[in-house]
Amino acid sequence: MIKKIFKWTGITVLTLVVLVALVTTLMFHRTYNAPYPNIKASKDSAVIARGKHLVQGPAHCADCHSTAKSKGSLTAAAGDAPLSGGFKFEFPLGRFYTPNLTPDPETGLGRFTDGEIARTLRYGVKRNGESAIPFMPFQNLSDEDLTAIVSYLRTLQPVRNAVPEHSYSLMGTIVKAFLLKPEGPQAKPPASVQKDTSAAYGQYIVSSVANCSGCHTRRDDMGKPVGAPLAGGVVFEEAGFPTLVTPNLTQHPSGRLWHWTEADFIKRFRMGRVIKHSHMPWESYKNMSDDELKAIFNYLKSIKPAPTEKVAVKGKA
Ligand code: HEC
Ligand code: HEC
Repeated sequence: MIKKIFKWTGITVLTLVVLVALVTTLMFHRTYNAPYPNIKASKDSAVIARGKHLVQGPAHCADCHSTAKSKGSLTAAAGDAPLSGGFKFEFPLGRFYTPNLTPDPETGLGRFTDGEIARTLRYGVKRNGESAIPFMPFQNLSDEDLTAIVSYLRTLQPVRNAVPEHSYSLMGTIVKAFLLKPEGPQAKPPASVQKDTSAAYGQYIVSSVANCSGCHTRRDDMGKPVGAPLAGGVVFEEAGFPTLVTPNLTQHPSGRLWHWTEADFIKRFRMGRVIKHSHMPWESYKNMSDDELKAIFNYLKSIKPAPTEKVAVKGKA
């Protein structure tokens, strides 16, 4: 009798395991439908120049899609980093590699249509239809800026660089299969935005282009914002390096910018990276114009001041 129960329990467990594995595999490669934005690369030199500025500056594509332009290695690297991908991110969810954005027809974006590139950025749906891992919150870029970015990428020198496939941990596999969903724009993205020093343009750069809030607003494990907007407190821990906590950027007496003038703010960005292992893409942001930095500063002054919260940092008293 006992033996029989064991046998049946065994069979049931085995069947369940096989089923779960099957469902996970199917869900892992789940594809999504999203429209291809009506974006076409332009050959206009002003459009290409705008794209270059965004990619190498505020949108910091170069920071992730290049190995030359990451974490301190490039304070020295003069000129524009080749966007040939291959930068590795190591997380508990797996090991992820950035793709090659140069027009190489075999290993780069030569295989992609303009619409496919634009869809990844606007809807988070990759060329193969799967959800992109949420590294790139560019959903709300204007049509004009999205066109500029695609136009610039088309002018890059092709580099042959076959980047390794991602490798997911068990947890990463489950997250991708069951929790990861592509996210589209919050509202219809603007056709273009007014580029000036206003807080409105600052908000656009902070939220839609440079993703300052991705690191300066506290989030839960699923990436949902839980802290006061831009009030900092995000903890960056990395083995072998002192832990960093992002500062509060709101105009509160306890915030980092309380005593900063606009000139101080611009000067700080011109200095670039000071803390070697900082995650902030200073090398790219350094390329922002004075007007862009003024706009950001004006926006930061306009948002609700929030006190700096105490956050627990492991290994620190
Ligand atoms: C914070 C790091 C980061 C930044 C910044 C970033 N990317 Fe990516 N990008 C990634 C990663 C990681 C992937 C792989 C995503 C995946 O496979 O799910 C990726 C994938 C892509 C893909 C391929 C999608 C596909 O269909 O397979 C394109 C195109 C792309 N990025 C373009 C850009 C452009 C253009 C910018 C700047 C406007 C940019 N990226 C900024 C990390 C980044
Ligand atoms: C990928 C994460 C990340 C992003 C994106 C990011 N930051 Fe930071 N930021 C940090 C970290 C970590 C620090 C603390 C280490 C340092 O000072 O470099 C920091 C520090 C700062 C400081 C204080 C520097 C000082 O010397 O006191 C300012 C100001 C700042 N960030 C503004 C911004 C603005 C504005 C944006 C968007 C344009 C932004 N950050 C985007 C991670 C980020």
